Amino acid sequence: MSREQWGTRWGFIMAAVGSAIGLGNIWRFPYVAYKNGGGAFMIPYLFAILTTGISFVAFEFILGKKYRGSAPLTYFRVNEKMEFVGWWQFLISFIIMTYYAIILAWTLNYIGFSLNLAWGEDTNAFFFNSFLKVSSGASVSNFGNIVWQVLIPLLVVWLTTLSVVYKGVKKGIEAVNKFALPTLVILFIIFVIRAVTLPGATSGLNAFFEPSWSSLGKPSVWISAYSQIFYSLSLAMGIMITYSSYLPPKMDTTNNAFITAFSNSGFELLSGIGIFAALGFMAAKSGIAIGDLASGGIGLAFVVLPQIINQLPLPQLFGSLFFLCLLIAGITSLISLMEVCISAASEKFDWSRQRTVVIVGSLTTLMSALYTTNGGMYLLDVVDNFINNFAILPGAVVEIVLIYWVYKKFQELRDEANKYSQIKLGTYWNLTLGIITPLVLAIILASSLIANIKTTYGDYPQSFVAVFGWGMVILLPILAFLISKIPWKNPEMAKQIIEGEDDLG
Ligand code: PFF
Repeated sequence: MSREQWGTRWGFIMAAVGSAIGLGNIWRFPYVAYKNGGGAFMIPYLFAILTTGISFVAFEFILGKKYRGSAPLTYFRVNEKMEFVGWWQFLISFIIMTYYAIILAWTLNYIGFSLNLAWGEDTNAFFFNSFLKVSSGASVSNFGNIVWQVLIPLLVVWLTTLSVVYKGVKKGIEAVNKFALPTLVILFIIFVIRAVTLPGATSGLNAFFEPSWSSLGKPSVWISAYSQIFYSLSLAMGIMITYSSYLPPKMDTTNNAFITAFSNSGFELLSGIGIFAALGFMAAKSGIAIGDLASGGIGLAFVVLPQIINQLPLPQLFGSLFFLCLLIAGITSLISLMEVCISAASEKFDWSRQRTVVIVGSLTTLMSALYTTNGGMYLLDVVDNFINNFAILPGAVVEIVLIYWVYKKFQELRDEANKYSQIKLGTYWNLTLGIITPLVLAIILASSLIANIKTTYGDYPQSFVAVFGWGMVILLPILAFLISKIPWKNPEMAKQIIEGEDDLG
């Protein structure tokens, strides 16, 4: 059986960039940058890209290309004992998917709401009470009822995503990304141009770019920069490994890593400009200080932006444009998370792609329905916080330390990458990946552990955080280890790397 392959290099790049550009770029980056020193944040941010981001993408690209497997299979081929790392990343992708899809379901609704500004004047009350019907408090045993208004668009999001991966790498994932990503960039540029030409935009941009140099002395600022890079580049979650496992053998991976990292950051910067220009406009209109308006995540997209949209000429157009951008950016990331799970399960159990899509797809759809309940919003908040702080980063440390220090595969990977890439990886790559990256990640992890272990996250009951926060995070590596003990259904296939064909342009 031959392995699926991308049709063109461009198609692969579009898919990798499509995965990287997601909610993280549009709603996370602008706020993270603003909060952590504004213009001065560019220094730790660039530093993080140069010392970790690009090196890590290049690392995952060459890893996937060389071993040609899903994440668990790739690590299994590095060393059998490493398979569990792949399942750990599989489970992380799986969990993230279950709530990432929910946010896209809200987004889909909001495209509709923009058409008649259904959110009214009090966008906060509309979002939490009228739309999500959030219950009064979080509880482990009582999630309330399903909110149909969320469940139905959720099913649409899943059907769309699953039908793309069902069609396969070239006809599904590549075809969609080749169309979706350029469309996103064009639409988003229109959004940004509209935003920067609004009255008051300059004050927003000034607030965003104004450097607070003293922030450079704060460790938390450097930590935020590294975390943002990991999140935004979809690293250490099996995604880039899976995507690059469909590359032909002679493909240049290092150049592709540079292209992916810079495109992602370019988009991020654009988003910071667009969002803060819009905030500047709102501040001028309402008299509220930008610092009080600025927020990230759910509050920004579903509460503050609708308020801004209300104030604009042609609000329906601007509103649907923004939410459409968010939807496209998110769907292409969701597809990549799904492909991690599809490729891993189909190789492990020797199922066809189609069968795997039905099985894994049903599971994720069912699990994500839990977030469509009245208590779903609380669950989403806790799971998101814990998975980002305590699951992705330890997984990354284990991945790099095992491959670099324990199984000592770096030289081999470097030689392989250099054989086909214009940009050569040298000592710098070893230094940044083998030493700087694990060290920085360990520091980030330790500091967020110290900050979080003493306090209960949010205003939630302790039992809620214990089960869905700490409990979930601890369960994942254990479950991953158990899955890795199940034998490969087709052990011959697992051991033998199928050579790809070099028919790419
Ligand atoms: N890189 C994408 C984003 O920035 O939204 C996808 C993603 C990766 C989302 C990792 C969440 C995550 F934890």
